[in-house]
Amino acid sequence: MRRRILAANWKMNHGPTATTGFMRDFAAGYTERPDRDVVLFPPAVSIAAARAGSRRPDGTPLAGVALGVQNIHWEDRGAFTGAISGPMARDAGADYVLVGHSERRQLFGETDEQCAAKCAAAERAGLTPVLCLGETLAQRERDETAWVVVGQLRAGLSALTQQELTTSVIAYEPVWAIGTGRTATPADASEIHRILRSALRDLIGDRAEDVSILYGGSATAANAADLLRAPDVDGLLVGGASLTAASWLSICAA
Ligand code: 13P
Repeated sequence: MRRRILAANWKMNHGPTATTGFMRDFAAGYTERPDRDVVLFPPAVSIAAARAGSRRPDGTPLAGVALGVQNIHWEDRGAFTGAISGPMARDAGADYVLVGHSERRQLFGETDEQCAAKCAAAERAGLTPVLCLGETLAQRERDETAWVVVGQLRAGLSALTQQELTTSVIAYEPVWAIGTGRTATPADASEIHRILRSALRDLIGDRAEDVSILYGGSATAANAADLLRAPDVDGLLVGGASLTAASWLSICAA
């Protein structure tokens, strides 16, 4: 059975000091729910602070809360100044890694080929890749959404084994909805998620039912419950509304 996942992508926000403060407030208000996993993606320099703060007042780890990094290099080590690798992220306490976020694709020129190599690197390191994909507004207006996202899905997952495909996570994030306050309707999200699951079925058959497909793009505490009720929407990948503990706690409880 696929898991419900609520994921917070902090992007380039919250260094170690801010992360420590967030985690204090989050841990104080967090109630574990057996039906969902919470994953935080702080900047890599804040992973240690997030890990240290992911504890109850009595010191026991918060159950159901995992950490991830926002990017890795496709090589495991070497002369790649400024980059971090899958094994390093794993060593620092990450269980997940975002791959191919639209900001990486658009601002850093990341290609489908690099996404495929990063997914493979994630698997080598024991990280679960969260492959992000989504169409731009221009592509949507040209009616190319299904073609674009299925292409990104097939290309990004192309280096994984069937077993690895089954345990990876997909995040549909329409570029026009990211940070714009313009959310896809639950019905729109559901339609694209259904198309993505059908493309997964071509790759892994019935085990496509086990893959969690998250929605991202202006998800907030106000619309989270409606989005999560939509068929085939298995969770959320949240940017701006995950930056304060109060807002993130209400999304986690949606
Ligand atoms: P916003 O929630 O700020 O729109 O960002 C979504 C996103 O890009 C998450 O990865």
